[in-house]
Amino acid sequence: MPHQGGDERLRIHRLTAEAAGDFAEDVRRGLGAERKSLPPKYFYDELGSHLFDAICLLPEYYLTRAEAEIFARHAGEIVAAAREGARRVTLFELGSGSASKTRRIIEALLAGQKTLAYVPVDISPAALEASAHALLGDYASLSVEAYAADYDTALPRLGESREEGSRALVLFLGSNVGNFDRAGARDFLRRLRGVLRAGDLVLLGADLKKDTGVLEAAYDDALGVTAAFNLNLLARVNRELGADFRLRDFRHVALYDAREGRVEMHLESLRDQTVRVGALGLDLDFRKGERVHTENSYKYSPGELSALAAETGFERAHTWLDSGERFSSNLFVATETKGERG
Ligand code: TRP
Repeated sequence: MPHQGGDERLRIHRLTAEAAGDFAEDVRRGLGAERKSLPPKYFYDELGSHLFDAICLLPEYYLTRAEAEIFARHAGEIVAAAREGARRVTLFELGSGSASKTRRIIEALLAGQKTLAYVPVDISPAALEASAHALLGDYASLSVEAYAADYDTALPRLGESREEGSRALVLFLGSNVGNFDRAGARDFLRRLRGVLRAGDLVLLGADLKKDTGVLEAAYDDALGVTAAFNLNLLARVNRELGADFRLRDFRHVALYDAREGRVEMHLESLRDQTVRVGALGLDLDFRKGERVHTENSYKYSPGELSALAAETGFERAHTWLDSGERFSSNLFVATETKGERG
């Protein structure tokens, strides 16, 4: 049965509204630059969030299935490790999307405590609302305090949502961490560590380095769903900023740079053209072959994950792999820092 609204088990903090003007500014800055780019957080409007859910169903995009397999097999073990020595756990999630993989973790946690507070953060209010209602309908003992916000805005607020005296388990799933560059990932995990206490946990999804062909197919599927997802960024500039991008005059490009260990996503102009962005009063020139960089997806080795933990105030306590050894789920435990008690 779908969950009905007006429930005291649900609170949504909408912190994205004040960011509306940011889109215009970010587009002006990104497309006005010598080397054009657009920030990836703008992928996830309502259509973009649905397209990403479709990506997760693609045969080429193994990441979601691999992580779901890990949870299907090991959720009990993951939660047992997370709960060790703690009476109760508050569950946080960064970039929760449709939260379908989260269900296994919620169920494993509810096997050990009567009620559970779930605190998802997502840039898309529509995705948050839909997933919160679905979860509340299915789990009567769950309460949800959701943040419709980008990570930077939500992070300093998360402490307020921790259930008194509980340990925090923060899910950071999929290839979310991979969308930061190496230094950005370190910086973000340090800031996350800053709002946690010793003994708190992060369950970090990380895609592993592997064969170029497998990686490039995962980001450039035969059906063209990933291309549509990437092109939707331009469509969104059309919709929200009155631009006249002709989507057929751009193509999606995904290339693995093995040296950097990252898949790079671009939108390439198929001809010399000028695009008008009405709301910005801007005319943008594109040369044939010129690319707009839209996202990187960094891949990790187990050694890099240990180093990442150690450099950011955590210890990599456990790692689980899928049977194909393509993807990793890593339990990072916040280590004691000077002057802090767990
Ligand atoms: N976080 C996802 C990833 O890096 C996002 C993603 C999947 C993506 N496919 C994409 C981003 C294609 C841009 C283009 O795996």
